[in-house]
Amino acid sequence: MATLQSPAQLDYDAVRKSIADILEKEDYDDGSYGPILVRLAWHASGTYDTISGTGGSGGATMRFAPESDHGANAGLGIARDLLEPIKKKFPSISYGDLWTLAGVVAIEEMGGPKIPWRPGRSDAPDASACTPDGRLPDGDKGAAHIRDIFYRMGFNDQEIVALIGAHTLGRCHADRSGWVNPWTRAPTTFSNLYFQDLKTTKWRKKKNFTPLQYEDPTGELMMLPADMALLWDRKFRKYVDIYAADEAKFFEDFAAAFSRLLELGVKFPESKASATA
Ligand code: HEM
Repeated sequence: MATLQSPAQLDYDAVRKSIADILEKEDYDDGSYGPILVRLAWHASGTYDTISGTGGSGGATMRFAPESDHGANAGLGIARDLLEPIKKKFPSISYGDLWTLAGVVAIEEMGGPKIPWRPGRSDAPDASACTPDGRLPDGDKGAAHIRDIFYRMGFNDQEIVALIGAHTLGRCHADRSGWVNPWTRAPTTFSNLYFQDLKTTKWRKKKNFTPLQYEDPTGELMMLPADMALLWDRKFRKYVDIYAADEAKFFEDFAAAFSRLLELGVKFPESKASATA
């Protein structure tokens, strides 16, 4: 039955529980919707532009074309549809709040850090606030492109590396991005394994395959050209080394950066400025 409450009165613990309850699914990918929910939260938020103040998770504009059809968002309809019954159960939650909270709950349920999160995003009524294509990073590019994209959101090199550590989760899909395979052997557990693998594995170009990706000697794991940039760029590499050696430090820095990512551009109602859920 629908819980009819204003956003301020909403029982966010009940919403969290509903999200946690739908994460596991034996016959989907590696048995969890967690990774794709993290990606939905990130792509909803990562459109933010510090200069124009446009984009970000407030508005939840990925509900509308053309943003829903942007190449980077291929496959994310699965995550949006998955959350629809929860939106029906708690109609007063905004899509922006629901999508970001789902990413937070997914990370926590997969063994990651507690992510500071607060409600207050309001949904855009139509597609007019959709951001132009090209605001999210391309996997086939290197350090300069990564910096262009993440500096535009207001992040520094340390935060960039921490955030991309989310590739410890999930996998690539041929029918979505064109790339294949997971980054790690534990794609439904949040850990610093991505950084350890990145450093210690002998990565080589996958033969007879486009788009270009790197593979480990077994051919089962992968890295995007953009992941390899973290290894090859001296300033990024410094943080790869730190996070590979110290998982607690990675968790701490990831939680701070991911929380900030989810709030970029959001105009929280002042009365709730210090509220947490
Ligand atoms: C340079 C930056 C980044 C690039 C180029 C990039 C690119 C990609 C690509 C190509 C995929 C595969 C999509 C598919 O085929 O389904 C992917 C998946 C994923 N990305 Fe990223 N990403 C970046 C940063 C991030 C960040 C900052 C986060 C979160 C904080 C993130 C979280 C994820 C997750 C969890 C998946 C797995 C999704 C699934 O299993 O369905 N990525 N990313």
